[in-house]
Amino acid sequence: MKIAVFGLGYVGMTEAACLAHQGHEVIGVDISDEKIATVNSGRSPIAEPGLDELIEAAVKKRLLFATKDATPHINSCRVAFVCVGTPSTPDGSHNMSYVAEASRQIASMIDTGREGPFTVVYRSTMRPGTTDELIRPIFEQVLKGHADQVELVYNPEFLRESVAIADFFDPPKIVIGARQAKRCEALDTLNANIKAPVFYTNYREAELTKFVDNTFHAVKIAFANEIGRVCSELGISARTVHRIFVSDTKLNISPYYLRPGGAFGGSCLPKDLRALQHIAGDIGAHTYLVDSLLRSNEAHKQFLFETCIRDLAPGARVLMLGLAFKAGSDDMRESPNIDLARKFLQASFDLSIYDPYVEPSKLLGQNLGYAFSNLPTLRKLLVFKTTVESEQFDLVVDTRGWAKDLVLHAGRVIDINALN
Ligand SMILES: NC(=O)c1ccc[n+]([C@@H]2O[C@H](COP(=O)([O-])OP(=O)(O)OC[C@H]3O[C@@H](n4cnc5c(N)ncnc54)[C@H](O)[C@@H]3O)[C@@H](O)[C@H]2O)c1
Repeated sequence: MKIAVFGLGYVGMTEAACLAHQGHEVIGVDISDEKIATVNSGRSPIAEPGLDELIEAAVKKRLLFATKDATPHINSCRVAFVCVGTPSTPDGSHNMSYVAEASRQIASMIDTGREGPFTVVYRSTMRPGTTDELIRPIFEQVLKGHADQVELVYNPEFLRESVAIADFFDPPKIVIGARQAKRCEALDTLNANIKAPVFYTNYREAELTKFVDNTFHAVKIAFANEIGRVCSELGISARTVHRIFVSDTKLNISPYYLRPGGAFGGSCLPKDLRALQHIAGDIGAHTYLVDSLLRSNEAHKQFLFETCIRDLAPGARVLMLGLAFKAGSDDMRESPNIDLARKFLQASFDLSIYDPYVEPSKLLGQNLGYAFSNLPTLRKLLVFKTTVESEQFDLVVDTRGWAKDLVLHAGRVIDINALN
């Protein structure tokens, strides 16, 4: 396949060299004379293990050359990859001017009478909405009524510098954002020999993926370092604690606790989190990430409440399914459902709660105290299954997944644990 790669930095140079290594004919495009000269002399303009060798071999075989002006070549290319930089601006947003400029250049090089399909694949990291709101309008403006001749695809890059070549041939995943999640024939062909899960999505999900990944990596590192500081200050072996932590692939290093849905709560998480904050404060470990978690959780509870009451008339009848912290339990200590119930009452909604595991007369000790100090009218709020299945509610908030097994008469049912 004949391919143009715009931007010969860490991403674009790796892309260009690896594609040429696979036998494709690659034209590297950059605005830097120095980079172009370096590539054409068979060397890498960036330091990346193995890249010099790949570039030297590809240039010798005439499968790779670099240029500032791709105009004479673009119409014989099947694909153009855009790998230009998106550096930070002073306000923290990405500087999208390189992406815009490269798009404008590509669009103005296209001969609308060209034969065969043409795909422009964006690999630069860019905020959700960029393809629809910045890139497509550029192609529409330049190509007038012919913009649909160009297939625009967003394909985030996950390579890590220093092992970029190995990551190119063995990526953790392939994410392809396309219009209406349509398959991209060119990328399917290019990726045919790469063994990685492929996800086809709309542009925006693909665009967000890279932010989510990088943010999570940052969360992991910051978390590990905060725990490391606590260990260090307490004279505990961070290495041993780490080994034990990562050995747990059931609850710790796993998809568990990572699905967007309900807030956290219960008798352990908030209590122990507060206690770790206290320990960290005592020893001056400055655990900013850990310190932010309870506030983040409160913000999420408010978000869930606001999601529930969207379009709900004042005083509407609301039924909550589940009150205790977990199904099958009557432990109400710091149950997020208690907070949600309180928010409904404070906002004067007509609330009923169904939780067959909660029997007010059987509550004891701290559990009893927590339940009644937060919901003094608990007895009045609890309803039986007969009421649930015979009366009309404007909104049913399902915190348990019970709705499917009940005969409900509801205007709307919200599953609070499954945000879409
Ligand atoms: N570096 C990484 O490890 C990595 C990994 C994944 C994704 N990304 C993302 O990929 C993108 C590129 O990153 P990078 O580190 O390779 O950037 P880079 O700054 O190393 O390279 C960008 C290149 O684009 C060139 N360029 C700018 N405008 C151009 C134009 N109009 N035409 C042709 N070339 C042009 C620049 O001269 C430069 O050589 C960024 O959005 C980055 O966030 C980077």
